[in-house]
Amino acid sequence: MLIGIPVEESPGQTLVSATPDTVGKLIKLGYDVHVQRGAGDNAAFPDHLYEAAGATIVDDVWSTADIVTTVDTPTEERRAAMKPQATLISRLAPGRNDALVAEFAERDLTALAMDAVPRISRAQSMDVLSSMANVGGYRAVIEAAAHFGRLFTGQVTAAGKVPPATVYVIGAGVAGLAAIGTANSLGAIVKATDLRPETAEQVESMGAEFVAIPAETEESEDGYAKEMTADQAQAAAKLYAEQSAKADIVITTANIPGRKSPVLLTADDVAAMKPGSVIVDMAAANGGNCELTRPGEVYTTEGGVTIIGYTELTRRLPSQSSQLYGQNIVNLLKLMTPGKDGELVIDLDDEIVRGITVAHQKDILWPPPPVKVSAAPAATPAEPAAAAAEPAEEPAKSGTWKLIAGALVLALLLASPLVVMGHYMVLLLAIVVGFYVITAVTHSLHTPLMSETNAISGIILVGALLQVGSANLAVTILSFIAIVVASINIFGGFTVTHRMLDMFRKEA
Ligand code: NAI
Repeated sequence: MLIGIPVEESPGQTLVSATPDTVGKLIKLGYDVHVQRGAGDNAAFPDHLYEAAGATIVDDVWSTADIVTTVDTPTEERRAAMKPQATLISRLAPGRNDALVAEFAERDLTALAMDAVPRISRAQSMDVLSSMANVGGYRAVIEAAAHFGRLFTGQVTAAGKVPPATVYVIGAGVAGLAAIGTANSLGAIVKATDLRPETAEQVESMGAEFVAIPAETEESEDGYAKEMTADQAQAAAKLYAEQSAKADIVITTANIPGRKSPVLLTADDVAAMKPGSVIVDMAAANGGNCELTRPGEVYTTEGGVTIIGYTELTRRLPSQSSQLYGQNIVNLLKLMTPGKDGELVIDLDDEIVRGITVAHQKDILWPPPPVKVSAAPAATPAEPAAAAAEPAEEPAKSGTWKLIAGALVLALLLASPLVVMGHYMVLLLAIVVGFYVITAVTHSLHTPLMSETNAISGIILVGALLQVGSANLAVTILSFIAIVVASINIFGGFTVTHRMLDMFRKEA
């Protein structure tokens, strides 16, 4: 089949739906690829790079391609130019475009909405909303830094001390977490709040402090937030006002799908902020999280607060955004090209394919059946029932176990010869010290820390090597097993550390 990559026609669009890198991957899946002349110019991908990747440069793809991929919904003229039974892969906002969906069915086009990928783990690699929100969150911090009159990172210089900037992020979804990570890496002190309590751990693992809304909030079932109750809204409004007044930068990303963005910062809240502070309202396109946001604009209030309302942050990083968007399409086509033979298979039994197919063989397939998913680990249905049935027994049980363990340790201590008792004391102290040291280490460093500490098995190795030559066969066998297991631990630890460090190394 032939895939066509056209020039994007929406005003100001800088992205392209495939890059030379992703074109190479599409060709490996068995497709022929035609790229419209100049399609990648705005994203710094000139035609000759596409040609080198194996694509053919043409003047028109609309009337010839079996599959057309775009970033934005094409104009009616372009849709009309497509071959019947051809497939369009694009961002289509099908929930807001009934007429468009009906038109695809009428024209006998298969329409796949990249912005309708269900938020389930298997579909993460195809989720363009997440890819774009990730780039957007990064860029929001860069924009904030460009408009902020001070450094992000704290410094002690010969000329005096520079305090670090404080960044407050409201909404810790994909964009919010990306903003937290970026602000943290620039050296700011970062705090964040989200309606969904399950995001606290993610916020902390990105190096920020989670500031909870002091009111009960529900865990989500689909990875998105629900609307707040009146109590929650009141508690949240107070918190946002307090935190924003203390912060230098506020980045708002609060979003509830299918609804206008909630207003979280009022004109009074902005007036209470420090002069020189910056607000980046990422939800500007959908009404904005700040009452004073002007979508698409940057301006400074009378009180000296700069409000950034850019609605196209991803267009400000066109090469990166195009690469991620193109890779999302490659990942989708990998799923839909099981034979790697350049033949697209629409398998409506697959929940991802079903979720994004809005029209196929003249049928309207929107909306798809709901897919339930939680960002928090799902409890097995038996768990809550069991917990409810035995509320008093649980603590009692764990108390008994603690008692038994304590008695065993004590018995072991008393029964041991004096020399061994010293070893037990060292062991117990090591457990206590280890517990406090490890819990003080940030989550993101746990894996390298644990893999590195595996090297401590070297002590076991030395002990086992000293014992392996013993005259007692049992000691020799046990020492041998200890040597093997400790070696696996040591070399495995170094391999894992090496692989983790590789993830951060730049390719030469
Ligand atoms: P998301 O749905 O993953 O995250 C939104 C988060 O906001 C969720 O964690 C949700 O629980 C939280 N939230 C909702 N209401 C809240 C409230 N009242 N208080 C606190 N938290 C609340 O969405 P994602 O993908 O992170 O995108 C965030 C926003 O950024 C969207 O509106 C999206 O359209 C926008 N965006 C804007 C760009 C731009 O150029 N300006 C670029 C990319 C995304």
